Amino acid sequence: MRMGRSTIQKLLILCLCASLLGFFMMIMNIGFNCQNGAKTKGNVDGLAKEINDDFKKKMKELEEKEKNINLAAKRLDFLQTTLRRQYPYAVDYISQIIDDDLPTIYAITPTYARHVQKAELTRISQTFLHIKNFHWIVVEDALEKSQLVSHFLEKSGLVYTHLNTKTPEHYQLGENDPSWLKPRGVEQRNLAIDWLLRHVDANKEPGVLYFADDDNTYDLQIFHEMRSTQTVSVWPVGIVGGLKFERPLLNAQGRVYAWYTAWKPERPFAIDMAGFAVNLQLLQQNSQARFDIRVPRGYIESSLLSKIVTMEDLEPKADLCTKVYVWHTRTEKPKMKQEDILLKQGKPSDPNVEV
Ligand code: UGA
Ligand code: MN
Repeated sequence: MRMGRSTIQKLLILCLCASLLGFFMMIMNIGFNCQNGAKTKGNVDGLAKEINDDFKKKMKELEEKEKNINLAAKRLDFLQTTLRRQYPYAVDYISQIIDDDLPTIYAITPTYARHVQKAELTRISQTFLHIKNFHWIVVEDALEKSQLVSHFLEKSGLVYTHLNTKTPEHYQLGENDPSWLKPRGVEQRNLAIDWLLRHVDANKEPGVLYFADDDNTYDLQIFHEMRSTQTVSVWPVGIVGGLKFERPLLNAQGRVYAWYTAWKPERPFAIDMAGFAVNLQLLQQNSQARFDIRVPRGYIESSLLSKIVTMEDLEPKADLCTKVYVWHTRTEKPKMKQEDILLKQGKPSDPNVEV
């Protein structure tokens, strides 16, 4: 609305200038022509009339435009009032989360069915609700999209895309396998990359890609940090690799030259999935780059990063990698002893209660 009014003001000023110029020229004309006496009087009158007509026409156009703007403003007011009545916070919420100038953050979250799934998704989604221009790509490790995740996303209040793909059987974890035995979430992240490259043109809509596992803990600051990523940005991750934190090591010029990690420091990118973000344009330029599920343990991150960036080109964030804004937390697998006993007794808990 403000833009419309200021346009009108600009047009009015323009008209005023034009008529002043016309008036000035008219005076000049009179001065120049006064020697020629009465015969030029007709010309001057003609010119003045022309300017006057033109001015009137422009004013009419402006009045028409202002009328339309006022009508649109009234309609917008009405829509806002109606929307507020039904959803009291909707208007403020929408204007708070939309900022046209910010690149969109696309967070890719692989997820799989287990007792804590809804709790994990609830925790991270309510963090994500605070982030502007945020698009959540949730990829279920399943042959079909589940009701639980579908309903959850519908009610989440987030902009989201819901996808699914099952990890190939050979790479699936067995019930009693230790979690590190097989890579997790790899095919799901790759599917999300496919989707992004197909649906978003980074040249028109700038974006940043982040791999946000469902069990980590995210400080909002990490999203502020990654928003400006030009190539690939990196930062420390807390509670990971058997250490209090892992992080990139920087030289005197503030560039990454090695990794602070105890486990396999020789990896080209010895960094956890939660410790980096990728500019979408860069990914678009390397559209074949994907995570490779076949690589040895710990090399999943390197399998993608080495295809799109070199260590020298990494952008350190979080105060030159001195702050921890994301934690590789892991949720304990709940014991269901009593639940199993009730089940055996033929008295299972109410299956209609979604947990
Ligand atoms: C660590 C890293 O932080 C992961 O980014 C990396 O994928 C994983 O190791 C690996 O080496 O494969 P970790 O905490 O051990 O992660 O793994 P999870 O949190 O159990 O799984 C990572 C993501 O994949 C989670 O979002 C999880 O929900 C999902 N996942 C896990 C599946 O989609 N399917 C599974 O069967 C297991
Ligand atoms: Mn995890």
